[in-house]
Amino acid sequence: MIGHEQHDIIIAIDGPAASGKSTTARRVAKKLGYTYIDTGAMYRSVTLKALEHDMLDRLKHSPEDVRILLDPLSIEFQGDRVLLDGRDVTAGIRENRVSREVSFISSLKPVRDRLKTLQQQMGEKRGVVMDGRDIGTVIFPDAELKIFLVADAAERARRRYAELVQKNGNPASLPSLDELEREIVQRDRDDAERAHAPLRKHEDAIEVDTSSLTIDEQVELVYSLAMERISAGTSRA
Ligand code: CDP
Repeated sequence: MIGHEQHDIIIAIDGPAASGKSTTARRVAKKLGYTYIDTGAMYRSVTLKALEHDMLDRLKHSPEDVRILLDPLSIEFQGDRVLLDGRDVTAGIRENRVSREVSFISSLKPVRDRLKTLQQQMGEKRGVVMDGRDIGTVIFPDAELKIFLVADAAERARRRYAELVQKNGNPASLPSLDELEREIVQRDRDDAERAHAPLRKHEDAIEVDTSSLTIDEQVELVYSLAMERISAGTSRA
């Protein structure tokens, strides 16, 4: 055959809350014709399931009971929609009550083990952009491109606030900007200090500070890094 075989890679995008991972990952995936996998949505789905079963207090005393939520558990992506056990939970998983509890649920080893298996299956054919906290360190340490997105906390709170206003419409029902910033900083601390798969930058990851970048600029930057890696792999093939 004349020409190059397409060399599909894995792009891992990690970083703290509201650093722009999902917007960047979704748009880079679209430009490349890759699949976007939002692993935060998966942890949020398990958290929503725990809230719906009124299990938060019980899990704080008996974390091993989380197995009730995992057996059975199905999480699927259909375009931009997230299906939990066959039900569309796309809006529900973004509610702030989920954001407040998700770090606790995602610190539980049985939850991490189950989602790790699902995520590795989703990426096994490569050609994926996956974002989260531990993608470059634990899920795909062999990802050809690893990005660690950061931004200062005040800027991240402003972005998350604007996103919540856009989705909820009514700022009166939302936490204040200060409260949101405190919650984000607390969540980062919880994610970074947990025992299993804590948030941290892989030594090979490229750190990108998005505090003063526009979304278009950060998408272009990650896309051009991806194109470099794809053509490096193709010329070696
Ligand atoms: O969108 P945002 O940055 O607020 O968070 P997210 O990506 O939706 O992730 C929500 C939470 O899930 C994080 O705060 C982590 O506690 C957890 N998470 C994780 O532990 N590992 C991942 N790979 C992705 C998310």
